[in-house]
Parts: sequence; structure tokens; C-alpha cells
Amino acid sequence: MGEVKTVSEILQAEGITKHYGGVYALKGASFSLRAGEVHALMGENGAGKSTLARILAGSARADGGTVRVHGEPVEIASPLDAQRLGIGIIYQELDLFPNLTAGENIVIGNLHFPEGRVVDFRRIEDFCRPFLRQVGLTCAIATPAAALSIGQMQLLAIARALSMDARIILMDEPTSALFDDAAERLFRLIAGLRERGVSIVYVSHKMEEIFRVCDRATVLRDGETIGTVETQSSSVDEVIRMMVGRELRIMARAGRRAAGDVALKAENLSTAKLKSVSFEVRRGEVLGIAGLVGSGRSELGAALFGIDRITGGTLRIAGRPYAPGSPRAAMSAGVGLLPEDRRLQGLMMRMSVLENATLAVLPRLSRLGFLRMGQEAASLGPVARRLALDCPWVTAPVSQLSGGNQQKVLLARWLLLNPDVLFLDDPTRGIDIGAKQDIYRLIDELAAEGKAIVLVSSELPELLHCADRILVLNEGRITARYDAREATQEMILSAATTAVPSPGAQR
Ligand SMILES: Nc1ncnc2c1ncn2[C@@H]1O[C@H](COP(=O)(O)OP(=O)(O)OP(=O)(O)O)[C@@H](O)[C@H]1O
Ligand SMILES: [Mg+2]
Repeated sequence: MGEVKTVSEILQAEGITKHYGGVYALKGASFSLRAGEVHALMGENGAGKSTLARILAGSARADGGTVRVHGEPVEIASPLDAQRLGIGIIYQELDLFPNLTAGENIVIGNLHFPEGRVVDFRRIEDFCRPFLRQVGLTCAIATPAAALSIGQMQLLAIARALSMDARIILMDEPTSALFDDAAERLFRLIAGLRERGVSIVYVSHKMEEIFRVCDRATVLRDGETIGTVETQSSSVDEVIRMMVGRELRIMARAGRRAAGDVALKAENLSTAKLKSVSFEVRRGEVLGIAGLVGSGRSELGAALFGIDRITGGTLRIAGRPYAPGSPRAAMSAGVGLLPEDRRLQGLMMRMSVLENATLAVLPRLSRLGFLRMGQEAASLGPVARRLALDCPWVTAPVSQLSGGNQQKVLLARWLLLNPDVLFLDDPTRGIDIGAKQDIYRLIDELAAEGKAIVLVSSELPELLHCADRILVLNEGRITARYDAREATQEMILSAATTAVPSPGAQR
């Protein structure tokens, strides 16, 4: 844009501290935001990113430190205070009222929605429509929030922040549940907001997003600010080094595993979404599934786990016919599923880490008559260590864990259940780059123990790294099969995106 922009700090946070009981979430973190910039907040799971965002949005109180807006010290004691200061937020965990409609979620507590005696539907509709259009959310205004998908909820939360006419928008992992095209739309939206001088704080673990969308990045580690870099003159390696405080060893995977007997075999498997899908996975093998969102990859997991009705074809587990009628039946047949939509199908926020991790195992642990807490806690210990789960104590509610650590609790659940066939749907989403390596190692170990793993991932390097073989799904059909050693990202992408020929032509 040619002309020199005058640099003005619209928001400054200095020496922010925050502790929860004995746990310090922030220990004097600082950062500053310029008008019209997109500023990334980065750091490992539990580094304090969400806590800092919540403090700036008035939903958590800092113990110490100063926040300035346009150079003036401000008190942000409530979300309303933040709104008055022009600060909006999209929470990592989202904060919608499930029983209210999409429209009501936007207008409730919104200072920009002109108050009237009767809140009528038409006024809500008129107010909300442009913002929903801006984010590309096509649902009816009267849809209850609970009926939206997680991706749609994320868009609704973004529309809500826009409708408050915020000059500063904090986005805490906004693309964690967005489909590829919705994420692209969000990036365009961000570019548009930036043009209008809106400043954005962007929290994400996705390096490519950060380097694409953000002007600067501030790295937090253990609640402290390590530094701020200009993304143009920095590198992924530099940011990672700042985040983890050391050089991160990206492991090369130990060679190909010796595969054992066939653990799972699908022949002409069909559901509402899948069209005659055939494959097998052996014990000790990691089968990678590539495909765009909507290609049927999650539906494959849903079919295997007894969620989606199977309309044709057969499944076999260890040679025996397998026709799962429910998740419970799937679990007792030794099949596990880490779902993509973890916030919906996963955690009980108010329950403890221990209770959440052992939910699926409860029948097994309590088989002898009653539940033994001691036994549960003892079984969780090694699994928690294996995942490097960061929680103060296992009886803490999961709501007190950072987002990434909440994900690990769900993984822990499946490790405890110890299924023979484990379907992992994007298991590293929301997980920091160091912990990702832990999960790769874990997948390796599980395979070495003789488990059959089906791994879905949107990140092709991750698939190429972890899988032995890769299937590509496209519109519910398998369009390519590769030995992972011979596949390239280009080959996979082309098989995932090329229009599928008519059914007869399939191999
Ligand atoms: N309500 C709470 N009660 C107790 N501890 C909390 C609470 N909220 C956060 N913490 C702790 O504060 C620390 C920082 O958490 P925070 O959610 O800010 O991390 P984060 O950087 O956003 O991580 P992630 O990438 O996993 O989302 C963690 O150790 C977390 O367990
Ligand atoms: Mg967070």
C-alpha cells in the first residue's frame, strides 16, 4: 500500500498476572496491538493465550498489570466494559446460549441492538441479517444455537463480535472447527476488517495460518511473554524455538512396521454418504485417510462406530462379521472412535478430568460391582504421562484445563479403553506443535503394540509421516490408494480434488 502507515498502539497489556489457586496462568505477560494489524498470540497448550484473551474481554479479572486502550489505562471488569471499549471476542470454547436462537444470541447484551419494549422477531432479523451474510452463515435466524454444527456456532460467534462494532477482535482458535472453505472466507473477512482499521488478535496453533494472515506474532511460554516478531522477517523455526524454548526434534519415523493379521476389513461398505468402500487394516498398521472435508472421511468413522446406518456391504473384525448397531456395540467389539466434533460428542465440562477420561471405561472398571476411584486414578496415571497431559490434579474439572489439554483428556479416554481398532479423526487439531510430536509417537507405539489405527488428517505432512498406507476419499468413494513411502502431497491432493468419474469406472 505504498504510503507509510503511522504506527499507533491501540491496545497495550503490561505485566499481566493471573493465578487460579496455586496455578499461575499468567506471570507478567505483555503485548501491544497496533491499529489495523493482525497480531498472533502463540504458545504451547497451557501457555496462557486464552487467559490473556479472556482478561482483555472482561470475562476474567487479572490479579495485576495494566491494560491501556489508546494509551489510557482502563478497567475491564466485565464483558460489557469490553464492549464499551470496542473489544469483542470469539472464545475458544464458544459462549453461545444453546436454548436461544441464532438471532437472539447476537442481540442479547448487545449495546448496538436498539432496545425496544417488545423484542420482535422482525427487528432481530433486520439487525442480524447483514452480519450473518458477512460471515457466510446461511441458517435461519430462528434456529436454536444448539441445533447448529460447531463450525456454524463459530461463525455465529464471529457474527456476534462484528455486530458489536468492535475495533479490536480477539479470535481464540477461530478456525479449529471451520471447514476449509469457511476458513478461507474467514481469512477474507479478516483482510476486510484490517482494511477498515480493525485490529485482530489471532490465536492459533496452525503455523501456515499465522504466517499467512498475521503481521506480527507474540509468543507466550508458561505465562510469560518471550517476544514479538514480524512474521515477514521471522520463520516457523524461530517461532517454534521461542514457543518451546529449545530446538524441536521433528522425528523421522522408524521404518515401516511389520503388519500382522487383518484386524478390520470393509467390503463394498455403503452408507448415506459412502459408496462401496473396500479396504483392510492389519494389526500393527496405520491406515491414513485423506480427503477434503465432506469427502466421507468422518462418515467412515461414523459407520465403523455404529453411528451411521450401514446400507450395503460388509465389515469384519478379525475375520468375524461385524455389524455395529450402536457405539456401545462398537466398543464391545473393540472399536474406538475419537470424533472430529469433540466439543459436541466428548467432554462433560463440569466433570473432572478423571471422570471424563474414564467415562468409556466405567463399565469395565465397575464390572465387579462398584466403582473404585483408586483403580481409576491408577489407570489414568500412565496414560496421562504418555500424553504429557498438563492438569493440576485429576479431580479438577476439565473446564479448568487449557483447550489443548482438554483434547488430550479425550485421547486418554480411548487409550484407557484400549480398543483393537482405533479410528482417530483429526487427533492433533488444537494441539500445540510439541505435543503433536508426542501424539505421533503415541500412534507409532499403539501400532507397535498390534493395534490397527485408522488416521484421518487434514494435514498431509502428518498423514505422510504417520501412515503406512493412504486411502484417498472423494465424494464418498476411494479414488486412490498409496503406499505412504511413495505418495506425495501433490498426488494425494489431485486424487482428493479431481471430479469423481461415474460409478462403473471405479477400480
Ligand atoms: N478456570 C481455571 N481454573 C484453573 N486453572 C485454569 C483456569 N483457566 C485456565 N487455567 C490454567 O491456566 C493455564 C493457562 O491456560 P490457558 O487456557 O490460558 O492456555 P492456552 O495457552 O490457551 O492453551 P491452549 O493452546 O491449550 O488453548 C493452564 O495451566 C490452565 O490449566
Ligand atoms: Mg486456549
